[in-house]
Amino acid sequence: MKFDVVTIFPAMVESALKEGVVGRARQAGLLDIVVHNLRDFTTDRHHVVDDVAFGGGPGMVLKPEPLFAAAEAIAERRGAADAVLLMSPAGTPFTQAAARRLATLQHIVILCGRYEGIDERVREHVATEEVSIGDYVLSGGELPALVVVDAVSRLIAGVVGDEQSVEADSFTRGLLDHPHYTRPAEFRGHRVPDVLLSGHHGEIRKWRQREALRRTAARRPELLAEAGLAAEEREFLESEGFNPATEGEGFSPAGKKGSR
Ligand code: ADE
Repeated sequence: MKFDVVTIFPAMVESALKEGVVGRARQAGLLDIVVHNLRDFTTDRHHVVDDVAFGGGPGMVLKPEPLFAAAEAIAERRGAADAVLLMSPAGTPFTQAAARRLATLQHIVILCGRYEGIDERVREHVATEEVSIGDYVLSGGELPALVVVDAVSRLIAGVVGDEQSVEADSFTRGLLDHPHYTRPAEFRGHRVPDVLLSGHHGEIRKWRQREALRRTAARRPELLAEAGLAAEEREFLESEGFNPATEGEGFSPAGKKGSR
């Protein structure tokens, strides 16, 4: 899979993409990622990428010419992209479902916004979608671009060593992950749940499934509506004092272990 990231901070983006799972997948040739410096697509002596806003007001706006030129150069050098994402707090919320959809594509260009804004013509004529990673404002699209590259890459076969670990992740089934423990079995008087030491794989699977359900009901009840619960899972939550039929509307049972 190919990614092209366009940014005014290429060193920041490149350094993050050298590390960890993504860095290894690049070395293995599973991911072909090129980071482009937006300033390389300017034509003036000072490599200016921004200008004042028409109509006045504070802050600078990213100019259209370098972003158009970058998108065109990438299409020429690397082939037409399947999607051109503009990272922006005004975009569509990025979710695991969005990551799964993007992971089916072969070539994604990501434009990092900066400063107070970006010329609207880039949104209209270069970007194919605008993506937000959450309801908070960052100083630029670099961290959001890294979030998207990471979340999409780990869904590509071979990128994460253990495919089962991707399957078991929070959100793959629409539930939060169950708790994890490693050695020692007792640490400062805190013991690992006995069932995990029992060697009974059926019991362990059941415990993990129930903990995932309990945790989701307590912390993110709105996710239950979309999780496609089996009858026995509903019965379990009811027996625990949760009401799966109304959890989706934010019902939180009084006196329940809300912090779990
Ligand atoms: N740029 C600034 N804030 C952002 C956000 N929350 N998501 C995507 N891009 C952004």
